[in-house]
Amino acid sequence: EAPEDMLNMADIEDHASRTLSKKAWAYYFSASDDMRTKTYNNTIFNLVLFRPRIFRDITVVDTTARMLGFKTSLPLFVSPAALARLAHPDGEKAIARACGKQGILQMISNNASLRYADIVSARVSNEQPFAFQLYVQNERARSEKQLRDVVKAGCNAVVLTLDAPTPGKREMDERLAREEARASGHVDEGEASSANSGREKDSDGGIGRALFQGTAGDLVWDDLKWLRKQLPDDIKIVLKGLQTVEDVVLATQQVDKTTGKALVDAVILSNHGGRALEGSPPPLLILEELRMYAPDVFKALEVYIDGGIRRGTDVVKALCLGATQVGIGRPALMSLAGGFGEAGVSRVIQILRSEIETAMKLLGALSIDQLGPQYVNTRQLDAI
Ligand code: FNR
Repeated sequence: EAPEDMLNMADIEDHASRTLSKKAWAYYFSASDDMRTKTYNNTIFNLVLFRPRIFRDITVVDTTARMLGFKTSLPLFVSPAALARLAHPDGEKAIARACGKQGILQMISNNASLRYADIVSARVSNEQPFAFQLYVQNERARSEKQLRDVVKAGCNAVVLTLDAPTPGKREMDERLAREEARASGHVDEGEASSANSGREKDSDGGIGRALFQGTAGDLVWDDLKWLRKQLPDDIKIVLKGLQTVEDVVLATQQVDKTTGKALVDAVILSNHGGRALEGSPPPLLILEELRMYAPDVFKALEVYIDGGIRRGTDVVKALCLGATQVGIGRPALMSLAGGFGEAGVSRVIQILRSEIETAMKLLGALSIDQLGPQYVNTRQLDAI
């Protein structure tokens, strides 16, 4: 099987399920509890229908978009996701090269499996933008040092993830960790089954939980000032994991008292791909609520979404409802599998590029800024 044989994101996932190690598959695929939120993130797109127009010259469509002051070839970015090397030895570097060649932005996870500076060194040109995703550490000095290093290596934005101050209960990941521990004799039966009688051992929680050691659980809005102070003025701040209209409005209200400048440049509506709170709203619904109840926020900051995006039509629907960029998490990781590496990630971006172009042509919209609510019927969303 070659990357070219992959026709869509489902093929990519299928390929990954057959070629990834058990551990990598469990970590990538898993989500919280019964994984209903993860599924709903995607199926909610079925509730939005297009309103395609006729008699338009669609011979040329322009998919270029903007993000944080940069031009991107598509309204698409790679969301920060940990441990890409579980899928391929080139890991996040392969993603960096594919994003550079394809003209989209990569957000590099705080828990990447390679050093930030090494990933950035794989850039295909000096102009290639990068964002660093931060989980603030209990020991703030550690985060401060991390930010200094990232700034030195080259970084255009810091993405502060806020939807997972503690990891969700990812049972696929947990179950496998227990199986492995048992197989290697680290945990005896008694210890594993007494888990609910006291605090679980970290090793029982799977990769997800182990990665969260040391992450601060006490962040409040005021900490944004601390973050701004760590960064040169030209580095943008993006908040990731907003799930209500209220919090997006609050984000627009955060200003630096001395300069009067807004502290937040963009927000990513996200529920962490269903890996945090089960029962949290799919990002498309949050987007629709913003459009209904707080349309002014779109003028104050850039609004992106991620979670469950698997088709060009999903991207186009999100753009019609006001998002200006859309992120993919699992597809990028999974496309590295089975030896694909950079070629796999490029294939994913190319598939989505072609699907986005086809959707825009069939819709009769010739450029990204033409996409708007006039192209969608959202009445089924009103019922939720
Ligand atoms: C993630 N996500 C994530 N987010 C983040 O801010 N920092 C991180 O380190 C990670 N790590 C991570 C690992 C894995 C394996 C997955 C699947 C996800 C969440 C990620 O940025 C994004 O929000 C979701 O993946 C989007 O959903 P889809 O596209 O995977 O459905």
